[in-house]
Amino acid sequence: MLSINNLSVELKSPDNPFIILRNVSLGLKRGEILGIAGESGSGKTILAKTILNLIRKPVVKTAGSIILDGQELKNEKDFAAIRGSKVSMIFQNPTGSINPVFTVGAQITEAILAHNTGMKKKEAWEKAVSLLAEVEIPHPAERMNSYPHQLSGGMNQRVMIAMALSCDPEVLIADEPTTALDVTVQQQILLLIKKLNREKNLSVIFITHDLGLLARIADESCIMYAGEIMERLSADNLKNESMRHPYTRALKDCIPSIGDKRQYLNTIKGTITFNGSSFNSKCVFADRCERKTERCVREKPEFKDGFSCFNPF
Ligand SMILES: Nc1ncnc2c1ncn2[C@@H]1O[C@H](COP(=O)(O)OP(=O)(O)OP(=O)(O)O)[C@@H](O)[C@H]1O
Ligand SMILES: [Mg+2]
Repeated sequence: MLSINNLSVELKSPDNPFIILRNVSLGLKRGEILGIAGESGSGKTILAKTILNLIRKPVVKTAGSIILDGQELKNEKDFAAIRGSKVSMIFQNPTGSINPVFTVGAQITEAILAHNTGMKKKEAWEKAVSLLAEVEIPHPAERMNSYPHQLSGGMNQRVMIAMALSCDPEVLIADEPTTALDVTVQQQILLLIKKLNREKNLSVIFITHDLGLLARIADESCIMYAGEIMERLSADNLKNESMRHPYTRALKDCIPSIGDKRQYLNTIKGTITFNGSSFNSKCVFADRCERKTERCVREKPEFKDGFSCFNPF
């Protein structure tokens, strides 16, 4: 239902220009949960924002198309028509999306009214209560009168999800929705997103830096590095750890296995490459890759059979 083709986004700054997304293609099927993972700075949030046309100069889309339900979204008018209606986003930094001075109920009601001109306030209030129930907030009618600071982090995240659902979206983009939460609450939010996906046939793009989370929630996962998709793999291949790309494997080695209580033990050696046009003709990961050969710095591996690498596992 959503397809992104050969998308490129650049930072057009005179002193420090670089490529934020290079030639990114991906497809999301109806009712699918697509995971996107990658190290910090790999371009996950910019990808999500580009899908909704929320990037601003000096960050500029330089190539590619975004197609939703068979319609290409070309200008801001097209994007405005789907943003917060067909496609809804939960932002990585929720402080801008939830207002501390209004009650939860007032905020969700307002979001509902914004999408339903002519709806009576009472009806919107009732819909808000049912949304809180849907995201499994106990005593939803009473919670409507709570202020955000009176709720736990997990409860506020549920409120954010309820707000994102207030327009009955077909696609939900969730940018690191559980990162700030402890493991138990994280698990509850994952289960909630999974339930919404199943019951409402909601398509979800789930962004995280944690492959372990994707193994639990995503049907398919795209692994990003320095603005490129290095590998796309199925839930089974992720669970069985049968990844092909050395980067995906390195990322996997950074996370504790499922159920493991260890904290993050490893990081991949080196840092994300400064991404200039020289990387148009070589592998972006080569500098940090343990399987690098001379070919990797002479030629760019094509994305084929689900990965882009000359020396896959
Ligand atoms: N407004 C901006 N101006 C300049 N550079 C930017 C801007 N927004 C993002 N970038 C750069 O684009 C790259 C991708 O950023 P992005 O926020 O998409 O990463 P991310 O994968 O979401 O990382 P994280 O896991 O930390 O959220 C980074 O190098 C970042 O510094
Ligand atoms: Mg981000």
